[in-house]
Amino acid sequence: MGCQYFSPCDHGADSFTIAMPKLTCGRGCLGEAGVRAAARGMSRIALFTDALLKDGPYVETVQKSLQQAGLDSAIFSEIRIEPDDACVKKAANFIAQGNFDGVISVGGGSVMDTAKASMVYGLYPTGDFLDYFAPPLGVGKSIPGKLLPHIACPTTSGTGSECTSVSVIRINDLNTKFVLGSPLLMPDEALVDPGCCDSLPGNIVASTGFDLLSHAIECYTAKAYTRWAKIEDPLKRPYLQGANPWSDMAATRALEIVSEYLERGVNDSSDSEARDQLMWGATLAGMAFGNSGTHLPHALSYGITHLMHDITTDDYAVASPFIPHGISVIASTPAIFRYTADGAPQRHLEAANSLGANAWDAGDDEAGEVVAGRIIELMKKTGMPNGIGDLGFGEADVKPLAASSVRQIRAIANAPRETNLQDIENIYADALSYG
Ligand SMILES: [Fe+2]
Repeated sequence: MGCQYFSPCDHGADSFTIAMPKLTCGRGCLGEAGVRAAARGMSRIALFTDALLKDGPYVETVQKSLQQAGLDSAIFSEIRIEPDDACVKKAANFIAQGNFDGVISVGGGSVMDTAKASMVYGLYPTGDFLDYFAPPLGVGKSIPGKLLPHIACPTTSGTGSECTSVSVIRINDLNTKFVLGSPLLMPDEALVDPGCCDSLPGNIVASTGFDLLSHAIECYTAKAYTRWAKIEDPLKRPYLQGANPWSDMAATRALEIVSEYLERGVNDSSDSEARDQLMWGATLAGMAFGNSGTHLPHALSYGITHLMHDITTDDYAVASPFIPHGISVIASTPAIFRYTADGAPQRHLEAANSLGANAWDAGDDEAGEVVAGRIIELMKKTGMPNGIGDLGFGEADVKPLAASSVRQIRAIANAPRETNLQDIENIYADALSYG
């Protein structure tokens, strides 16, 4: 491709492949679930949701739509925020015994991720839960065959899981989250209905919005796909393949949307224009990172949720200790971009400008501060913690946090700079407070 960032490298990839579901977006499109499920040949549907949404209007809309289309369904709602292997095993049992020919998920990332993983383990049971996870945690066993057709219906504006081939699951024995990934996990369709976000508290719009921000800016600053090794078998090309022209396009628009609408969407629940835009931005960012992969902000978030102390977050009905995913990601992000900017300064400046930094005259040596400054500004305007110190971490936690996160090998390798354990320690130390 004719862009300097994607210039060919010796032995580097020279092609990229884009995967995404069929998307339907717009207020009211949730009501299309039945027609679309029938068109995919579904007759008995596993309907995934969570306990809070189960008796609410979005699930009711989907159920009515399925009934009108003459389709049978059964609900699984025992899904916790940040699903763990125990939750997935229960859901897998539901799939294994339900005689289903299709899946619809209605919820945030936790619900969609559980739906994806439960099909893997329900249809293709394996001796050890970690078998399908990538090394060094698992053995990287291939999923033996197709999953059921899946229509994903997000009810938050951040995760982008409706457009990705990954499922993030907490492994209880290890007390941390890891990514289960395969092209087979990509939903077949997504119904992106912004009306599902109308009743979200501002704090949840903020947390999910920073997840969206981070997906987009991580994609844009990720290692170029041409710097990953060339794959001889095209069917084995990684689905998370580094920054590419497609992810650039979607990430750039997602960052523009965050710049313009995040503050409005967080601070005014009646601002439907802002919330509609954030929903679209989340899907765009999902389309981007579902094909490029994230890097250090997501990798370092896993150490935070692994080692978090006694902490709760307003508006989330989850017992302590709990830090929402978006907050665990964004808390270290300014410090991370101060570090990664040296690896691709122009990319960082371009991303910062898409995010509204207006730093068109900034030099390469200022790129890290420009990105960090703009993100910190948005965090302060939306009530985010001012670094990981506000999440209860201190200097004594820096080394354990780094030791935990350094296990996220694939995401760390997708950063625009080589990053080792000492670098991660330095980043966490810088992320304690942003002054
Ligand atoms: Fe995320």
